Order: sequence, then structure tokens, then C-alpha cells
Amino acid sequence: MHNVVVLGLQWGDEGKGKIVDYLANQADVVVRFQGGHNAGHTLVIDQQVYKLSLLPSCIVRPGKMAIIGNGVVLDPWALFKEIDTLTERGINISPKNLAIADNACLILPLHAELDRHREELQGGNKIGTTGRGIGPAYEDKVGRRAIHAGDLLQSDFLKQRINNLLSHHNALRQGLNMPLIEENVLFNQITDITHRLTPFVTSTVQLLQHYQQQKRHILFEGAQGALLDIDHGTYPYVTSSNTLTGQVFSGAGFYGPAAVLGVIKAYTTRVGQGPFPTEDLGDIGQKMREIGHEFGTVTGRKRRCGWFDATLVRQIVRLSGAKGLVLTKLDVLDDFDKINIGVGYEILGKSYDYLPSSLQLQQQAKPIYRQVTGWKSSLKGCRDWSKLPTAAKNYIQVIEEFVGVPIFMISTSPEREDIIVRQNVFSL
Ligand code: IMP
Repeated sequence: MHNVVVLGLQWGDEGKGKIVDYLANQADVVVRFQGGHNAGHTLVIDQQVYKLSLLPSCIVRPGKMAIIGNGVVLDPWALFKEIDTLTERGINISPKNLAIADNACLILPLHAELDRHREELQGGNKIGTTGRGIGPAYEDKVGRRAIHAGDLLQSDFLKQRINNLLSHHNALRQGLNMPLIEENVLFNQITDITHRLTPFVTSTVQLLQHYQQQKRHILFEGAQGALLDIDHGTYPYVTSSNTLTGQVFSGAGFYGPAAVLGVIKAYTTRVGQGPFPTEDLGDIGQKMREIGHEFGTVTGRKRRCGWFDATLVRQIVRLSGAKGLVLTKLDVLDDFDKINIGVGYEILGKSYDYLPSSLQLQQQAKPIYRQVTGWKSSLKGCRDWSKLPTAAKNYIQVIEEFVGVPIFMISTSPEREDIIVRQNVFSL
């Protein structure tokens, strides 16, 4: 298989960054196709920690091409902050290894401001967004008033686009008691970064077709997780993009065969509000948070923690067409006597083998657990399947059997090479 799609199958933070970086060794090109700098991908290479938000996770590997596709909402100021940090650490980023879709929509300062303002107004009903302007930027995209990265190439056209955008936003801001924005102020803000952004801007659709004709290996890097998908996630507590397989084709402008690889964490976490049937608000959740360092990469918020929900993962495997899985952070469960796996729900006296889409039902869902014995020994850094204790192998097999697809890889620490590979996804 020349092309591979890597998706998070829970609520994000499954450890996709490490997996994409690991697989990038075999890929020529890595493409982001949705989301924006709400993502937080952590790579640990020889004890050096790299935190990426917008840049594809191959950027630290020399000789790889990183593409930010049209489905991404791009904050140019955040992008250059990330580029500057990496440049200071000796990573070279230029149009030779980074291309940005000319039809990617921009996140402007007004989007982040609106995101935060609306969240404040919601009080107890807030979504718990990252406050990065993701939702408002996607709203402008479907409202057909967004500014594309390619619009910066012609200043007269850019002025028209700003005028059109502000006629909407200033009316909205007036209603929300926010100060109005002057056209020339926004124009100057944007033109200040134009000279830095435009060298990277190109038709990434053409570029991808070129790589496809050359039979290069292309890796599509999902951000957030399947349960934050705007259609299939726990709506309205979701992000504003599609995070599932279909988005690869529209968000990158690519069509071709690709193997889908789902990344799952050995337990479950979630940041922000919304249903989470297997959440543990007591000592178990707290222990997972401490051992797993479950604090948001982007916002630093505490992640909510709980047992692995196999029912949800099975549901998403079927929706995403995942051929196999990568299990991450297995070592976090090293010290638990008993481990629970969610295998169904009881909702208002009825049993369910899937999570229904109604928020009201989701909020009432009580997990049904199957319990297995813990392995009570350290798996940290294990790279060899034969060295895993029987109880750990049993945990993996129970998940595989329930979910219905094999686990191809198992990650046992944040370090790039601490991984057990049972199947090479590129050779499927
Ligand atoms: P937004 O994407 O900033 O609009 O936030 C919407 C929801 O998605 C919130 O619950 C966020 O915490 C969550 N979210 C957004 N990006 C990520 C991510 O990369 N990892 C985990 N949760 C995320």
C-alpha cells in the first residue's frame, strides 16, 4: 500500500504524533487534511521533546515533504511561531519541505477572539474549545466568506475579501458588544505576514497528483479524534471539522487507495465538555492522569480519564474502515491489579452495543465492563512482542476480538523507537 491514513479513534490525544513521525520514516510526504492549531502532537526523539500543532509530524525528519491541505484552517501567526521555535532548534523549514494549499482558509485574530467571547457567554454550557478560533473559521468557510491563503497573492482582491468578511463580522460583533474592526487595520495585519506566507503557498492538489504519479508513499495525518467529528462525534461537544476517513479526500484534494490505521490509547481521555461513559472521577482516573501525564498539549487543561471503551472504538473502526490499530500508552496501565474494558452500555434500562447519537441518551449511558487481570510489571520501553507478559497479551487480544481488527503496533513510551511492530502497514 503506497498510502496510509492515520486517524485517532477516540477523543484525540491518542498519540498520533509519535506514530506519524515513526511511519514517516517510510513515507515521502505527510499531509494534514483537517483541523488547525487546536491539535497538539508530541514527538520525543533521543529525549528531545518537540510539540507540534499545525506542522505535519514529519517536519523533524530531513528529506520529507510536509503538506498543509485545503481542509486545514490555518493561523499564519501560529504557524510562524511554531516554525521559529523549530528553526531555533536546528530544524530547517522552507518551501522545499513545506507546502500550504492555496485554498486553505485562514484563521484571523477575529476568529480566536470570537471563539473565546462566545465560550465566555455560554457560562456552564460551554463546549470547552481550545479558544484558537477553529469553529468561527470553519463557519466562515461554509458561509463562503473566508479568506484563502492564495488570496494574499493579490492585494486588490484581498481588500474585497476583507470587506466582504467584515460586513458579516462587524454586524455580529455589534450584536455581541464587541468593538468593530476597521478594514485597513485587518488588511495591514494580514499584509505584515504575507511575505512570509506566500512562498509556501501553492496548489497542493497538483503537488499530490505529482507524488501519486511517481508512486511516492503518502501519509495522511489526522488531527483530533473520531469522536470529535462534527457529524459522527458526540455533537455538539465536538470540533468543527470532519475527522474521519472521508475528509482525507476533500481536505487534501486526493483520491486513491489508502490503508486506514486507527490509533487508540490503552485507556480513554477527553479534554473539554461532553459525554464520556467510562470516565472515572475517582482514584483510578486520577492515577491514569498522573502516570499518563494527561494534561492538554495546547491548553494545559487536565484531561478527563477513564477505562478503554471498546464499544466506541468498534463503532468508529466500522465507520472509518480501519484495517488495523496502533495501541499507545500501554505502559500507563502497568500498575493496575484489575483492568476494565467497556463492552456495552445500559441506557434507561435498555442495553446497547453502540453509543446512540442522541446527546440525551449519551449522557445517561452507564458502561458495562469486562474485567481482566493486570500485568503488574513495567512495559516501559518494550520493543519485543515476545517479552510482553501474558496478562498484557491477553488485554490486547480481548480488545482485538471485541473490536474486530488486529493491533499492528504497540507503543510503550513516548520515545520514537519504543514500539512493538507486528505488521508493517505500508506492506499490507
Ligand atoms: P475546538 O476544536 O477548539 O473548537 O474545540 C472543540 C472540542 O474539541 C473541545 O472539546 C476541545 O477540547 C476538543 N479538541 C480540539 N482539538 C483537540 C485535540 O487535538 N485533542 C483533543 N481534543 C481536542
